[in-house]
Amino acid sequence: MGKSVYDEIYARSMKAPESFWAAAAEDIHWEKRWDRVFDDRHPPFYRWFVGGALNTCYNALDLHIDRGRGKQRALVYDSPVTGTVAVFTYAELRDAVARLAGALRRRGVQQGDRVLIYMPMVPEAVMAMLACARLGAIHSVVFGGFASNELAKRIDDAKPKLILSASCGIEVNRTVPYKPLLDGALALSSHQPEGCVILQRPQATAALAKGRDLDWGDFVAGAPPAPCVPVAATDPLYILYTSGTTGVPKGVVRDNGGHAVALKWSMENIYGVGAGETYWAASDIGWVVGHSYIVYAPLLKGCTTILYEGKPVGTPDPGAFWRLISQHGVNVLFTAPTAFRAIKKEDPQGRHMATYDLRNFRTLFLAGERCDPDTLHWAEARLGVPVIDHWWQTETGWPIAANCMGLGRLEVKAGSPTKAVPGYDVRVLSEDNTEMPAGQIGSIAIRLPMPPGCLPTLWNNDAGYETSYLTKHPGHYLTGDAGYRDDDGYLYIMSRVDDIINVAGHRLSTGAMEEVLAGHPDVAECAVVGVADEIKGEVPVGFVVTKAGVERSDADITRELVERVREQIGPVAAFKTALVVKRLPKTRSGKILRGTMKRIADGQDYTLPATIDDPATLGEITEALQQRGYASKP
Ligand code: COA
Ligand code: AMP
Repeated sequence: MGKSVYDEIYARSMKAPESFWAAAAEDIHWEKRWDRVFDDRHPPFYRWFVGGALNTCYNALDLHIDRGRGKQRALVYDSPVTGTVAVFTYAELRDAVARLAGALRRRGVQQGDRVLIYMPMVPEAVMAMLACARLGAIHSVVFGGFASNELAKRIDDAKPKLILSASCGIEVNRTVPYKPLLDGALALSSHQPEGCVILQRPQATAALAKGRDLDWGDFVAGAPPAPCVPVAATDPLYILYTSGTTGVPKGVVRDNGGHAVALKWSMENIYGVGAGETYWAASDIGWVVGHSYIVYAPLLKGCTTILYEGKPVGTPDPGAFWRLISQHGVNVLFTAPTAFRAIKKEDPQGRHMATYDLRNFRTLFLAGERCDPDTLHWAEARLGVPVIDHWWQTETGWPIAANCMGLGRLEVKAGSPTKAVPGYDVRVLSEDNTEMPAGQIGSIAIRLPMPPGCLPTLWNNDAGYETSYLTKHPGHYLTGDAGYRDDDGYLYIMSRVDDIINVAGHRLSTGAMEEVLAGHPDVAECAVVGVADEIKGEVPVGFVVTKAGVERSDADITRELVERVREQIGPVAAFKTALVVKRLPKTRSGKILRGTMKRIADGQDYTLPATIDDPATLGEITEALQQRGYASKP
């Protein structure tokens, strides 16, 4: 078989990365061209497009208006939870963003200042991100499902000048007041912003603190539109916090230049989408998928993007996705496999799909967690379009491995996100940094340098960037995922090598949950493991050993533990099961055998660890799990 387009383009990106990305950068409007495409003078800190200046908001909005797309739909807001559909053309979105940027500037926000955004899926949240980009201010969006304590950690690290928030978010059947969560966070954080701007939603308005809080409408009223401020390609566009291996989240930094180049390139080459088409990422702006593929990439490309304030099921039924695709003419949808598992459970025959006109719908992309072959085949059979699993993470900001629709589609192999995307030199390594033979699992690493758009460092933490990602395999970036490559070069991403779990496509740290459980006054020691779940992929289950002399009932303690995780991390952790056990299984040196506990909970076979201290502990754990419906053989 001859070489595919993909093979040729991939080989070119590896052989001559500088000319490859310089050519891609021609698609971006630069205020000043770069001096060096790639700067390797300060390893391991590599930078792209050094000396270049641009404005990301200009490239996402104004440029398209200048080129005649002013009347095209830029953003469609579809909110079944409030019964709203609102459409913003490129001209309308630019004007609203420029006014909001003007209001921020009037309040003293300047280039390099941080602005924290803690908002539900409303158009003002997208406008806020773009308004920051317009001024060269650095936004940090925090997902609404996080509680005060997590929000406080991010406030203390990012030190925002202003916080933009809303009175409430709306889940399927309840209103979530955001303002008390924000007030709670500010009571916990040492850093205090100069002000908080609150969007009052009619579903639940919030009391404003005099002197600190401002009403969104008052804040924007009369503000002059702000022009775009050119920033260095290497200046940060945003900070996005993600779970690390401890309770302290990592502030992933994204720069302006490399990000714009890589994201715009990805739309046509990976997603096969052109300007003027409609692209929908059914995620949340609080996650990287939302940053890259609800906001920046589709707008950089001149597409129509959809902002969906709803769920795959329950708003009102499992036909919600098909309604949106048909109503808004969606060409490409990107979501997480968990959403499809939820739809499949409620509508196994795909009856709702059949009632909508899906003729413009071309491709479904899935990411955020491993796509199980059952879900992939179900979606393929019902939709009759290619279903593409692709793999990436907050740190990279865009796909590492995918079946690139714009580069000649390759064969789909269920369970694999296909092959490395151009620009990424993906290696499967052993403990001693040698490459694993085909078919054998190893640690997946990316040989440095990474392509444009990937994190240049962690916010105010160069040392943490090096220790977290660059020390394990010298000369490589550690992805934290384990997997293998098959004989045809297809990658298979199987599990994490650290304590991170993926719950309904949301990235969470079991270590952070253990810290919360350990803080309960009755708990002597604890462990949290991710256990297989039919819909969410994985859910956390906690095991605690109480302190000697504790006489309170197990039911009281476990209820408090569940509440505690909800209060300190947030509902998004989906922590619903805690078990009080007599002992935790450990090695003789005292290491808790979390991997074995997980296998037991999942009903999988396991080998008795040679170093186990007391094998009887495994029987005790099995019994406790069986009483809660786990640990049964499939
Ligand atoms: N603000 C406040 N609370 C939120 C929230 C937000 N923005 N987002 C989620 N929550 C809450 C939910 O209400 C739920 O609370 P509950 O325990 O009281 O029910 C909890 O956090 C867990 O939410 P979620 O993981 O969304 O589960 P769910 O049971 O509500 O819905 C799915 C399950 C599969 C339908 C849902 O997870 C989904 O649509 N996932 C799509 C995946 C996705 O967007 N991934 C992002 C990466 S691509
Ligand atoms: P996040 O940073 O929240 O995007 O989560 C990134 C992590 O999700 C990755 O490191 C993987 O563990 C997992 N992940 C994302 N996409 C996939 C995929 N297609 N297949 C397997 N795992 C995935």
